[in-house]
Amino acid sequence: MLDKNYNICILGLGYIGLPTATLFAKNGFNVIGVDINSEIVDKISLGISPIIEPGLSELIKFVVENNKFKATTDYKKAIKESNIIIVIVPTPIDENKKSDLNAVVSACEMISSELKKDDIIIIESTVPPGTCDNVIIPLLEKNGLNAGYDFKIAYTPERALPRNTLYEMTHNARVVGGIDSETNNIVAKIYQKITKGEIICVENLITAEMIKLMENTYRDVNIALANEITKVCEQLNIDAITAINAANYHPRVNIHSPGPGVGGHCLSIDPYFIIETVENTKNPAKLIKTAREINENMPLYVSNKVKTLFKKHNKLLKNSKISILGVAYKANVDDIRETPAIPLIIDLKNNGCNVVANDPYVSDEKIKSIGAIPVSIDEALKADCVILITDHDEYKTLNPKQFKNNMFVCARPILNPADFRKENVIFIGVGRI
Ligand SMILES: NC(=O)c1ccc[n+]([C@@H]2O[C@H](COP(=O)([O-])OP(=O)(O)OC[C@H]3O[C@@H](n4cnc5c(N)ncnc54)[C@H](O)[C@@H]3O)[C@@H](O)[C@H]2O)c1
Repeated sequence: MLDKNYNICILGLGYIGLPTATLFAKNGFNVIGVDINSEIVDKISLGISPIIEPGLSELIKFVVENNKFKATTDYKKAIKESNIIIVIVPTPIDENKKSDLNAVVSACEMISSELKKDDIIIIESTVPPGTCDNVIIPLLEKNGLNAGYDFKIAYTPERALPRNTLYEMTHNARVVGGIDSETNNIVAKIYQKITKGEIICVENLITAEMIKLMENTYRDVNIALANEITKVCEQLNIDAITAINAANYHPRVNIHSPGPGVGGHCLSIDPYFIIETVENTKNPAKLIKTAREINENMPLYVSNKVKTLFKKHNKLLKNSKISILGVAYKANVDDIRETPAIPLIIDLKNNGCNVVANDPYVSDEKIKSIGAIPVSIDEALKADCVILITDHDEYKTLNPKQFKNNMFVCARPILNPADFRKENVIFIGVGRI
């Protein structure tokens, strides 16, 4: 049981902050959500979800109508009225692949100006190891209050999977790393209110920061391994997909599927936070860096398959019409952050192609923002060459008869290569060309 009534302020109402805010509100807390984007705040205030996430619209409506949750841009009032402040703002990388902590810094400055004695600050944004100790705490202490004495601070990373966020947030185990054991106990009790999962308390903030990065790095490295194995198999004229499936019958082997690269706000970014932290040390995370390079080269690998097909058919890439099926970074989501579609589109356009794209989840506006013309699926299937890079459910039932005898590069193992005319297609990972 919590022995105190807590009001929660959440800074950042995006893919993670908004579901977190609504779950705390549903479980009895009074929650004020703050976002600097007034469009997002206006939508939420009307009970509308700004993102596609199953169950979220209903939950927002419920907690807004029951006055347990309100969204605002007025951070001063929100922080003043709360005793728990949770930071869930974006932490992208810049053009040099270094962490961009601008949003975290600005959120901490907002908190620092209103920080009160006994407040509990919780950081959920993914950050390089050491950020809480070296960047966040000094910012919060600017107005004279001391971390660990006057206010508490903990880092607790989020592990939820888009499209299953609400289920995962209420069932996944959660790591908490506080400034001291008293903080760990309180923060564990707070999160136990929203998750049935185990709460694992670790000894300090930096350990919790590192755990989040280790998880996503583990996945990035394993995807890189699958992509590397696939390239090796193709070179040896081995069907990589069949070989991977067979290898996975080994009780302790689980090789992932190859794909067009890795995107999203986590897997394609978080490993860089480890790399930048240790790059000039005696252990500069070589494997992690190489995995990033392999995955970042995959869009170009896909583009080269297109070039191979054009060459084979004696066709010119310049002025051809190429369509991309799926621009979201993964199946059934509307998120295009760091999507492999972006470098692919850039490379095709650099080669003089006219690029169109279809995505049942992503808005036309977003498709245009990454340089492609949005089209219907029927229109997309008429292009000179079709490239499938996202395994949306809608594409799993594509029928070869829908294609117009055009070229097809399939970068996700969701269709049966045997159904397609051999000379027109390349399936990544299928050694048949
Ligand atoms: N998306 C995921 O699946 C996921 C999973 C685990 C962890 N994370 C981490 O959670 C953090 C947030 O990710 P996200 O996907 O929710 O980002 P997002 O871009 O969807 O949402 C962040 C929101 O914060 C707002 N914002 C920016 N600066 C602000 C400020 N100073 N005050 C208030 N609001 C501010 C933005 O307007 C935006 O609406 C990141 O560090 C990310 O790495 C994300």
